[in-house]
Amino acid sequence: MLFVGDLNNRSLSDSLGRDLNVDVIYPDKHIFDDGEIRMRVETPVLDEEVFILKSTSQPVNDNFLELLFTIDVLKRSGAKKVTAIIPYLGYSRADHVFREGEAVPLEVVIKSLEANGLDEIILIDPHTIRMSEMFRIPHRMESALPVFAEKIKELDLPAEKISIVSPDMGGIRRVRQLSEMIEGSTYAAINKDRDLESGSIESTHVGEGEIREICIVTDDIISTGDTMVKAVDLCLKEGAKDVYMFATQPVFAGNAHEKLANCKAKKIYITDAIPVPEEKIFENLEILSLAPHIASLLQKEKL
Ligand code: R5P
Repeated sequence: MLFVGDLNNRSLSDSLGRDLNVDVIYPDKHIFDDGEIRMRVETPVLDEEVFILKSTSQPVNDNFLELLFTIDVLKRSGAKKVTAIIPYLGYSRADHVFREGEAVPLEVVIKSLEANGLDEIILIDPHTIRMSEMFRIPHRMESALPVFAEKIKELDLPAEKISIVSPDMGGIRRVRQLSEMIEGSTYAAINKDRDLESGSIESTHVGEGEIREICIVTDDIISTGDTMVKAVDLCLKEGAKDVYMFATQPVFAGNAHEKLANCKAKKIYITDAIPVPEEKIFENLEILSLAPHIASLLQKEKL
């Protein structure tokens, strides 16, 4: 097996290489004066099974092309099978026509990966379960929830006081699953309204389940941070005393990090699915590595 790391996320790539006990191959990337890029992989890959790690986070379009070009290099150089491990797939939220006249970027992204010869894809906490129906190539939908469960157990909080809370009704399956991993806890989901024109959101009320003294608000993506911050406020308004945040993909758009740093959550846990630039790291933030979890998933399958 050969492992191609993500130039944009060397920390996760190197940790995963260590956990898998394989060398990390980094493609050579050259940016021309006009902004076009050239990707090269010098390591021979003929008849090899190759795994690529790549999050198509900001700059989303550049990272996506980098992924497509790297797949092309590998296929063109005779790799037997190319599997992409994608901790974050940009455009995941653009999964249907929200308003008449719009494209469906996620469908375009998936069709491009497939047409480019990708053999298999492994996604971590894909935004929608609908994604499973959108792929025609073999795909696996994995989750960071076991990593969160391990951390929550480490915090040693009384389970009977814990509610695992989704900041929107769409995440109910996720919080139900995480709650099952924390014996004695319960779950709840908040009703969130989004204005499609302005994008502004409002957490209106608890749509399902029970808010207990300790809330663990869990989501896939933190982008502007508004969803999580408003969910924390609603939990406190509904009687919670301590609120923690857990999210897989820290997109951290614009000044999200400032909103999060100033919100009322006791601690904010994210993963290294997307690297967070130094200037966006704040005191209350802890980054959990996905490397051991991804390594064990790959080793379990004897890949
Ligand atoms: C949406 O359904 C997702 O699960 C997240 O809740 C959303 O992407 C978060 O966005 P933001 O941080 O901008 O509120």
